[in-house]
Amino acid sequence: MKKDLISISDLSQQEMEEIFALTDELKKDSLQYSSVLKGKTLALIFQKPSNRTRVSFAVGMFSLGGLSIYLGPAEISLGVREATKDVAMTLSRYVDGIVFRTYEHKNILELAKYSSVPVINGLSDLLHPCQALADLYTLRERWGSFRGRVLAYVGDGNNVTHSLLYGCSKAGLNFNIATPRNFEPKKDIVSSAKSFAVISGAKINLSNNPLKACKDADAIYTDVWTSMGREKEAKARKKIFHDFQVNKKLLSYAKKDCLIMHCLPAHRQEEITAEVMDSNNSIIFDQAENRLHVQKAILLKLLKPVIRKS
Ligand code: CP
Ligand code: NVA
Repeated sequence: MKKDLISISDLSQQEMEEIFALTDELKKDSLQYSSVLKGKTLALIFQKPSNRTRVSFAVGMFSLGGLSIYLGPAEISLGVREATKDVAMTLSRYVDGIVFRTYEHKNILELAKYSSVPVINGLSDLLHPCQALADLYTLRERWGSFRGRVLAYVGDGNNVTHSLLYGCSKAGLNFNIATPRNFEPKKDIVSSAKSFAVISGAKINLSNNPLKACKDADAIYTDVWTSMGREKEAKARKKIFHDFQVNKKLLSYAKKDCLIMHCLPAHRQEEITAEVMDSNNSIIFDQAENRLHVQKAILLKLLKPVIRKS
């Protein structure tokens, strides 16, 4: 694996499967790994709010025997108090890895360029790789294999969509996306995903029609209509995305046992109804839980401890 985890496009299908196989082991017997990261430290630089990413990395690091240090916007004031390059070169002398959540994706690339330690993308405006890896792991856990399955994504073509595009196309999972016009995922990401899909056999379909995307789907996924940093657009987006709500009617177009997914945080009754979110089809909180297990596997892969199970 590369030094950093910035995008799923940097992972081979085999590396992704290795992360999933290690996650299986960690889930089965986490105590065996309770001191493998003893003496290792992880900085968590967060320029945006977080529940799942922050807590799962902190708990994950602790449960592997290591220490995490949270650095919120007030502490580091990245790019204002100090240049990103200088933060990277300083932290690299203290810690063994850095998780970074930021706005512009180029900030992550810069931090990674000047860090001698691994940098993990904890979400940028462009990508959310740790989320998509946990999502794919959750589906793999349910289905055993991705072959012949269809995941439908309904809503904004955002950071989560982009990482799912890379993940599905690498893993061989057919992926239908329905967004309103002008909210499609970025063309260059779609085009790279389509080239990965040629190798894996996945089919990638884009449309502006949620019913078409969800027809006979095995799983339906949605995310907030307004991502962090775009709050000013929230009112306008509510109107534009009105027909893209994941509700019972939309679900009726999918397979009977269709799974429901959301990366969280969710706005109940906006992009998804509470009824669907709380239904038996929902695996939303399994996804949230698996963030912890998958990220522990990522930490073990990148921080490269000599594994002597206790
Ligand atoms: N899904 C996710 O990344 O949640 P947080 O923003 O709470 O970390
Ligand atoms: N697209 C959302 C994901 C939150 C985990 C955002 O960027 O706010």
